[in-house]
Amino acid sequence: MAGRPSIVAHRGASADAPENTRAAFLLAMEQGADGVELDVHLTADGRLCVIHDHVLDRTTTGTGLVGSKTMAELAGLSAGAWFSSRHAGETVPELADVLSLFPAGAVVNVEIKNGPVWYDGIGSAVAERLSPWKHKLSLIVSSFDHKVLEEVHRREPDLCLGLLYEAVLYDPVGYLRRLPYPVGSLHVWHHLVTSELVHAAHAAGVKVLAYTADREEDVRRLVACGADGIITNAPGAVVRLLRAEV
Ligand code: G3P
Ligand code: MG
Repeated sequence: MAGRPSIVAHRGASADAPENTRAAFLLAMEQGADGVELDVHLTADGRLCVIHDHVLDRTTTGTGLVGSKTMAELAGLSAGAWFSSRHAGETVPELADVLSLFPAGAVVNVEIKNGPVWYDGIGSAVAERLSPWKHKLSLIVSSFDHKVLEEVHRREPDLCLGLLYEAVLYDPVGYLRRLPYPVGSLHVWHHLVTSELVHAAHAAGVKVLAYTADREEDVRRLVACGADGIITNAPGAVVRLLRAEV
């Protein structure tokens, strides 16, 4: 698992474009990222939409719970006006439409948001939606909800699963060994990544992806620790930094 870490654009190139929009995803690929991370929720009509918060207020022209709206209702909102007038035409994308934006082999890390609003069946819905793409894209399904990952695995056992956490765990690698599904990667708050953790994960055949690192010193530290992936809001800057290091 040695070599340059993958550069994964957090919510797309979200430093330069409105997060979780088509513009942010396309810009991430233009900036040289290996792929993107994006967040999904379930709409009132059972579709998977791409947005971070469980409420609309921060990043759209709507208000209230994402899960109380249909996909058609979400399509009528701007998901870019909050960021800049230039991006006012961006809408809340549907996962199905976003997947076709990426070139073959791109990393697409789909983070399932489940809680504080709980979406019945979201794991199965994600597995079903991603299944046709599993040979074209380098897919990872991650979540802070480790039960929903079991639902994904039952529906589509070929999908790579990423275990997200942000607390100091006593023994993350010991924990993942106890889970009833295989884990391909630990997705770790970047301050908690150490070379010891990376070694232990690699010994268990598991990668370590660090989120969310934008500052040069943080990126350099993660490279020194041997992290396999860096999830960043500023993929262009991280690409330039890592290219300069080679
Ligand atoms: O997947 C890494 C990161 O996105 C997790 O936190 O809140 O930005 O979705 P959040
Ligand atoms: Mg996320």
